Amino acid sequence: MATTIETTPDETVPDGEPVVELKATGKAYGNIRALHGVSLAVHPGKVTCVLGDNGAGKSTLIKIISGLHQHTEGEFLVDNAPVRFTTPREALDKGIATVYQDLAVVPLMPVWRNFFLGSEMTKGPWPLRRLDIEKMKKTADEELRNMGIVLDDLNQPIGTLSGGQRQSVAIARAVFFGARVLILDEPTAALGVKQSGVVLKYIAAARDRGLGVIFITHNPHHAYMVGDHFSVLRLGTMELSAARDQVSLEELTNHMAGGTELAALKHELAQVRGVDVEELPEEEDLTATTPEGTHS
Ligand SMILES: Nc1ncnc2c1ncn2[C@@H]1O[C@H](COP(=O)(O)OP(=O)(O)OP(=O)(O)O)[C@@H](O)[C@H]1O
Ligand SMILES: [Mg+2]
Repeated sequence: MATTIETTPDETVPDGEPVVELKATGKAYGNIRALHGVSLAVHPGKVTCVLGDNGAGKSTLIKIISGLHQHTEGEFLVDNAPVRFTTPREALDKGIATVYQDLAVVPLMPVWRNFFLGSEMTKGPWPLRRLDIEKMKKTADEELRNMGIVLDDLNQPIGTLSGGQRQSVAIARAVFFGARVLILDEPTAALGVKQSGVVLKYIAAARDRGLGVIFITHNPHHAYMVGDHFSVLRLGTMELSAARDQVSLEELTNHMAGGTELAALKHELAQVRGVDVEELPEEEDLTATTPEGTHS
């Protein structure tokens, strides 16, 4: 199947029902308000990107959706019904799978074993029930190939794979176990250009399989390569929510950087010898992007 990166995802605004929806949702930890008034919809076969600087509330947002934390304001709906998960298991049962940056893998175990970790295939009647190793190997091999992931040897410890390959295995695993919504928390943060490309490719593959993807990232370039919708968080509130055809990569970059801050940075960098600021947008353009002038 085709697993090339779609640089121009479907631009039509989805008219189908969202699988997951937040309506003016917020979360307070005691008297710290980590998130406030955030609205977001996740549609099947679409990639929703959540961008924001450190402490913006991205992890808090996905913790609500993945059942680790509960919202304290607004609504959280799955299939149009209000929900309040108390454990990640409940989110999984609704088909919401989360791939955390520090992947929960056992580095010394083979790839195929990690693929089935916690959901092993067994054979034979109780009490002679045992792991169906052959079937697990075969299935993991097929599923990885279906996603276009080619590994030399599924017996190799998963710890020997590159970061991008490990993220890819985790994505294929979520697809295989029937996820409808796939949440990826900064999957490209620790990766180089090529490895990031690998992960973006499988994000596109998951989307093409009809999953609704929530892609958390700091990187507007990565977001723009696969995103259908972009939500930028700043200090716990949503400062931009725009469909792909409503925002350019340049605007998105400005929102992420905070136009004024980036302009100041550009000015500073220009004083440093050997730093090329030519590629950065013009200072006027940067400062023009104030929170008042945002799309919503
Ligand atoms: N368990 C907690 N108790 C108290 N405050 C918290 C808790 N978790 C997060 N916060 C606060 O909520 C705010 C948002 O944090 P969050 O981790 O969601 O940000 P983030 O966008 O994921 O940041 P990063 O890019 O650094 O991962 C921060 O000010 C953080 O200190
Ligand atoms: Mg975080």
